[in-house]
Amino acid sequence: MVRDALESNWIAPLGPHVDAFEAEMAARIDLPHALALSSGTAGLHLALEVLGVGVGDEVWMSTFTFAATANAATYVRATPVFIDSELASWNLDPGLLAEALDAAARVNRLPKAVIAVDLYGQCADLEPIVAACRKHGVYLIEDAAEALGATHHGRPAGSFGDLSVFSFNGNKIITTSGGGMLLGKRKEWIDRARYLATQARSSARHYEHEAIGYNYRMSNLLAAVGRAQLADLDRRVAARRATNVAYRAALRDTPGWSFMPEAPACVSTFWLTCATIEPQAGVDRDVVIDQLAHEDIEARPTWKPMHLQPVFAGTRAIGGSVSERLFANGVCLPSGSNLAERDRARVVEVIQRAYGHGRT
Ligand SMILES: Cc1ncc(COP(=O)(O)O)c(C=O)c1O
Repeated sequence: MVRDALESNWIAPLGPHVDAFEAEMAARIDLPHALALSSGTAGLHLALEVLGVGVGDEVWMSTFTFAATANAATYVRATPVFIDSELASWNLDPGLLAEALDAAARVNRLPKAVIAVDLYGQCADLEPIVAACRKHGVYLIEDAAEALGATHHGRPAGSFGDLSVFSFNGNKIITTSGGGMLLGKRKEWIDRARYLATQARSSARHYEHEAIGYNYRMSNLLAAVGRAQLADLDRRVAARRATNVAYRAALRDTPGWSFMPEAPACVSTFWLTCATIEPQAGVDRDVVIDQLAHEDIEARPTWKPMHLQPVFAGTRAIGGSVSERLFANGVCLPSGSNLAERDRARVVEVIQRAYGHGRT
């Protein structure tokens, strides 16, 4: 497909692979309209713009996420409000959300939109989240940047939001080196997003602009890469799930380790295999990351919640202690789709050594 894009000389922005990639993603996610973009962050920004979110509006979202989710709210000059996670999925706590929406409705201060994030390859508990948003007429954006290929109650990640966003950044389960996709239930939203993403150029012979636009479209060349990768998605999901099974089995008896659970009704991709490590006998999360780094193996802490980030100091948070614990003790292990059995065995061996087991 990449060769076709090169040979057809259609390497400029837009072209047949962009159209086909959008159609293939729409079919896979089961939402009718899709727009290929330069990043997932661009998708979040445009989602808020087309829903008319702006100055004076609140956007409620999971606090346990990557900064891009929260940054998007600031791009439209809205106010983010951060909501804690639940332990079952590590994602947005639906009970906390429903209660807080009821309370906000009583004082007429509902948010304009909620962003639910599907973290580390696993969906949030989306059915009650959708119900709580519908009850109050609040738009739901699903930030499924990390969860392409996952399902919840048999439905694809990304199919629950009024608008949904995926990322094809270099570290994601499929990648276009950098890229993203916005999908939506309504044609007028995606048409508007397409217009804004193409420098808001009106249809005239000359360059006519009635709105401020962005240069956010994906190129035909990168769409060809994305299509080839999408065709390989199921293999990659299977590989990441196998890695998760292997880590769980090998580290089952390691003191203090609890793996991110696979929530009821979810099939996670385990984009990243994550765990929390209760400190034991001088070994904690940071010791494990340091020991792995010493062997040239990269492991990372889980996301630092947004309500703890200096840039969002003073921002309202609803709850927070669950995500704080998931951050304080959380680690993401090497999880690439091409990780060989011997690579996993090395990771496990280094971890076990930190606890005084295995080779010294
Ligand atoms: C939860 C989440 N949201 C949004 C993004 C932004 O995607 P991108 O890097 O493609 O802009 C990412 C990943 O990078 C992410 O992990």
